[in-house]
Amino acid sequence: MTGRDPLGAAARDIREVLLTGDEIAARVRDLAGAITRDYADRSPLCVSVLKGAVYFLTDLTRALGIPVQIDFMAITSYGSARERSGVVRLLKDLDVEITGRHVLLVEDIIDTGLTAGYLLRLLQARSPASLRICTLLDRPYRRILDTLEIAYRGFEIPDRFVVGYGLDYREHYRHLPFIGVLRDDILSGETPPAGLAPAGDARASPA
Ligand code: PRP
Repeated sequence: MTGRDPLGAAARDIREVLLTGDEIAARVRDLAGAITRDYADRSPLCVSVLKGAVYFLTDLTRALGIPVQIDFMAITSYGSARERSGVVRLLKDLDVEITGRHVLLVEDIIDTGLTAGYLLRLLQARSPASLRICTLLDRPYRRILDTLEIAYRGFEIPDRFVVGYGLDYREHYRHLPFIGVLRDDILSGETPPAGLAPAGDARASPA
């Protein structure tokens, strides 16, 4: 027994694995293949919004067979992840100009669609040559903006709160290499996320 526990207690907070690391990797390769074919003679700018999409963006772009650039935006969304208000404030803009560029907005998840809708309006106003959405996860049950066109979609997932592979609950679990459903006692606040609990005390008070 070495004591090494690569995923730590965080993995034990997961009730059910929805998508394994291998399933995600295979789908990312599929999406990268489709994007590579569609942009064969072009070099798109892949734009992501911090932080959730970072894991997907890095894996996706490394699987592409075309030259790309990456850039990031940061926003605050008012309202919780479960109850979006649709009011968004830009905290960090892109570093590069996108006028005349082929832009691919890379998201980890589209839920209400309000974040992607806001970003599309913002980017479209800068006259890119083209603008498309690629999302790893599509959870359509709470969709408010139902006119969104998603060019590349990894998985449609059920109406469950998921974490891992970039997705968080109170900033925890992003590092998990799979996507899973959090235990109810963690979601309800009865038990704190593993990272908040003192070692050996899984039921410490939430911070
Ligand atoms: C997530 C995700 C999308 C957004 C989707 O970001 O990365 O940007 O929610 O939700 P919507 O379709 O209902 O607008 P979040 O605000 O959780 O921030 P994070 O990326 O830092 O986790």
